[in-house]
Amino acid sequence: MDVTELQHPKDVLNDESRQFALLVNSVTDYAIYMLDEHGVIRTWNPGGQRIKGYTAEDVVGTNFSRFYLPEDAAAGVPQRNLRTAATEGRCIEDGWRVRQDGSRFLASVVIDPIWVDGVLVGYAKVTRDITERHDAQERLQQVQHSLLQAQKMEAIGKLTLGLAHDFNNLLTIIVNCLDLISVRVKDGPAAKLIETALRAAERGALLSRQLLTFGRGQKLSPESLDVTAALRESKELLQRSAGDTVNVVFNLDDDLPLVFVDRAQLEAAVLNLVCNSRDAMPSGGTITITARAQDTQDPASTNHAPEPHVCLTVEDDGEGIPPDKQARVFEPFFTTKPVGRGSGLGLSQVFGFTTQSGGFPQLSSVPGEGTRITLCFPIYEP
Ligand SMILES: Nc1ncnc2c1ncn2[C@@H]1O[C@H](COP(=O)(O)OP(=O)(O)OP(=O)(O)O)[C@@H](O)[C@H]1O
Ligand SMILES: [Mg+2]
Repeated sequence: MDVTELQHPKDVLNDESRQFALLVNSVTDYAIYMLDEHGVIRTWNPGGQRIKGYTAEDVVGTNFSRFYLPEDAAAGVPQRNLRTAATEGRCIEDGWRVRQDGSRFLASVVIDPIWVDGVLVGYAKVTRDITERHDAQERLQQVQHSLLQAQKMEAIGKLTLGLAHDFNNLLTIIVNCLDLISVRVKDGPAAKLIETALRAAERGALLSRQLLTFGRGQKLSPESLDVTAALRESKELLQRSAGDTVNVVFNLDDDLPLVFVDRAQLEAAVLNLVCNSRDAMPSGGTITITARAQDTQDPASTNHAPEPHVCLTVEDDGEGIPPDKQARVFEPFFTTKPVGRGSGLGLSQVFGFTTQSGGFPQLSSVPGEGTRITLCFPIYEP
């Protein structure tokens, strides 16, 4: 536009023929352009260039279907959208499109037909890039999901803790009474019955201890601990528990920062994870146990910056966990194993111990490929 002919640059706003061009060329947040009746691009604006990456030279004279995903273009979506605009007066759509560099973006699109004296001469098209809004919504949904999950675990934890305490008190009375009776009844069938009852009560006590761990009511004896050193000491036990057909690989970093956890509970947690991995690989496979320092974000924390943690990972290439079950595996008594094989308390111990130690577990699993569970512990600051 040659503004030198004008007395004052502001005069251009009074020139109707130039107003439109000025308006459209000043907009950079929206791609605003015209198509002819077949969808061939006739005009282009800086917004189009900013959003899609193409210059006017690249696109004017070509069909607008080039912006659609190849599968949508092949399915005739661009022409269908033009038809909708012509027949219904407007086509509004949110859909994925491709930029010049091949990247995809979510576009909010409005197509209006342009009629001149009752003849369809083309279309006005306005496109906005709403990828960021979409991503932000997804992030929000993820945060809401983890919050909900944390609240659910908290509620189950409270319930479990109350029950486990009461149950434990009752069992203590039962065991004490049985002990007293067994002193008086030394032989005969009654002694055998007392023995059986005692064993059942002790098993019950073990269960209630596991429940206490889940409910974070377990009395922990934390100590400052080098996770690598602790794992090296349990190497043999872990390999033996994994069985002959499973190979256990250790990937332990030296010089890890110390953590402040209960050593026996840590060993029990790793053992629980290894046993789960073993059960998930009935015909053998590999379990990789890794310990390293890493910046990770606690999903329950309101602080959104990742913080340093010591991360202990047990990974297998077993059957994996279906997505709909992943949110439930840490719940007490959730098991997919046959009666007598699993009580569903292994991961509850892992969860309770890790969170009671100030950390959090992470789970990722792909059915048919394997499962990875990471326990993240905060670094010990004396
Ligand atoms: N590594 C894994 N691979 C596949 N599925 C797993 C894995 N770890 C856990 N699971 C699933 O999560 C469920 C719960 O595990 P959890 O350790 O809490 O209980 P369990 O192993 O069934 O019984 P328990 O540990 O009390 O003997 C398992 O039954 C299984 O379905
Ligand atoms: Mg288990």
